[in-house]
Amino acid sequence: MLHVAVVGSGPSGCYTAQSLVQQDPDVVVDVLDRLPCPYGLVRYGVAPDHEKIKSLQNNLRTVLEHERVRFLGGIQIGPGGVPTDRLRELYHAVVYCVGAATDRHLGIPGEDLPGSWSATEFVSWYSAHPDAVDDGFVHGARSAVVIGVGNVAVDVTRILARGTAELSPTDMPQGALTALAASRVTDISMVGRRGPSQARFTTKELRELGTLPDTAVTVDRAELGLDPAYADPSGLPAPQRRNIEALRTWAESPTQDAGHRIRLRFFLRPVELLAEAGHVAAVRFERTAPDGRGGVTGTGHYEDVEAQLVLRSVGYRGVPLEGLPFDPTTGTVPHLAGRVLREGIVAPGEYVAGWIKRGPTGVIGTNRPCAKETVTSLLEDAAALLRRDPPEDPLTALRTEGIEPVEWTGWCAIERAEAELGASLGRGVVKLPDWQSLMNAVHSNAD
Ligand SMILES: Cc1cc2nc3c(=O)[nH]c(=O)nc-3n(C[C@H](O)[C@H](O)[C@H](O)COP(=O)(O)OP(=O)(O)OC[C@H]3O[C@@H](n4cnc5c(N)ncnc54)[C@H](O)[C@@H]3O)c2cc1C
Ligand SMILES: NC(=O)c1ccc[n+]([C@@H]2O[C@H](COP(=O)([O-])OP(=O)(O)OC[C@H]3O[C@@H](n4cnc5c(N)ncnc54)[C@H](OP(=O)(O)O)[C@@H]3O)[C@@H](O)[C@H]2O)c1
Repeated sequence: MLHVAVVGSGPSGCYTAQSLVQQDPDVVVDVLDRLPCPYGLVRYGVAPDHEKIKSLQNNLRTVLEHERVRFLGGIQIGPGGVPTDRLRELYHAVVYCVGAATDRHLGIPGEDLPGSWSATEFVSWYSAHPDAVDDGFVHGARSAVVIGVGNVAVDVTRILARGTAELSPTDMPQGALTALAASRVTDISMVGRRGPSQARFTTKELRELGTLPDTAVTVDRAELGLDPAYADPSGLPAPQRRNIEALRTWAESPTQDAGHRIRLRFFLRPVELLAEAGHVAAVRFERTAPDGRGGVTGTGHYEDVEAQLVLRSVGYRGVPLEGLPFDPTTGTVPHLAGRVLREGIVAPGEYVAGWIKRGPTGVIGTNRPCAKETVTSLLEDAAALLRRDPPEDPLTALRTEGIEPVEWTGWCAIERAEAELGASLGRGVVKLPDWQSLMNAVHSNAD
């Protein structure tokens, strides 16, 4: 049997495991994750009010329950856990599917002021990631600025505008729900540095903003008009054309009165976060103009937008993993069709898939063909990989080295504890938000 370790149990890790066992009856797979919970960003990124997408966890579950797949949670690969070269000794092949765990930086003054957070931090908090810190976020804020116009920016804007009645049925942790219920944020500006025809959000997600209860969406027609494609979008690809049409509907509708106001802004590049009494109070933007090549140039005109809460949603970024090559420009691991490249040469038995391979773009489904490409490379190499004899059962070897993973039964115990917590609160499933409660649930199972 070919023993493969897949590091990361997000979509790319699960699709890699699935493709391996589907394509080769002589493969067994261990899916390792640093967290005791599987599914990566499907659990810790996909917005809690998107139940349908969240339910993709059920599809990933069937992969991890396959008879030749084993979930080993709570195992950090790299410093403080199992070094990459040790993992390589334990398996015929290792596929790194570790995602892109951190945020991109703006590199502007005031970026780190109190009241300014990356969307990554905010999302991790409301998704109950056990490493998330409850920094107060919405506490004391009336106006928020979300920088960036991608789908994550839409997610965090929507969560800020949602009411308790809509968030309570979700699996959002109780602390985040209580804080958002007490939120006094009424005005949210979501701001793009380029024009509406270059926005990265998808039309479905954009339109959803217009369906939120007690929420008015406004767009300034004159600002949209700065984009030459606004007057005549016929030359745009269909997704961008649909975005323009959705924005046009709002721009041409009379402004509604509502408890929450979402303002979509364009052609504004953030240049500085301004403080008052040591806390963020506004974002200074420079007005930009299209350069005719899809980019923008500065105009030297500035506008300050008030905000006591700033969420920087300008993309995620891969982090280097000790022992693996890393390209700091792209935040990815260099590879050839999924085979890891060390100084341009294929490293036998090491592979990548998902965001750490392609960079932090693409929806859940994009990871499926990506994983498949990697698995094709791996299986082409199988004969050579089988010439080496790793230990019979890597788990036994790990245990003798003091590593005690959270196995599938441990994860099932977490699921039960989350269902019980939800029932005690009169809600559905409610996520456990910290390491202590997750590990208590795992250990209660062992007792
Ligand atoms: C906020 C947000 C919301 C999104 N919402 C949607 C959506 O609604 N619909 C959609 O289609 N797509 C959505 N996406 C995109 C989708 O989540 C990604 O395409 C997908 O999760 C990428 O998969 P991945 O497996 O590469 O990474 P991830 O999902 O990030 O999984 C990586 C896994 O690796 C583990 N790991 C990392 N480092 C180590 C280590 N050293 N040792 C062990 N384990 C490690 C992590 O714990 C994690 O479980 C969203 C993305 C974000 C950021
Ligand atoms: N519901 C869903 O399907 C869903 C939900 C969430 C996420 N996702 C997916 O997950 C992936 C990641 O989403 P994302 O929103 O994090 O990334 P993204 O789509 O790459 O969007 C990043 C945004 O940040 C802007 N930006 C980057 N650098 C900036 C800077 N220095 N100053 C100002 N703005 C800056 C970008 O503008 P420019 O274009 O000008 O660079 C862009 O608007 C995407 O593929 C997304 O579709 C999907």
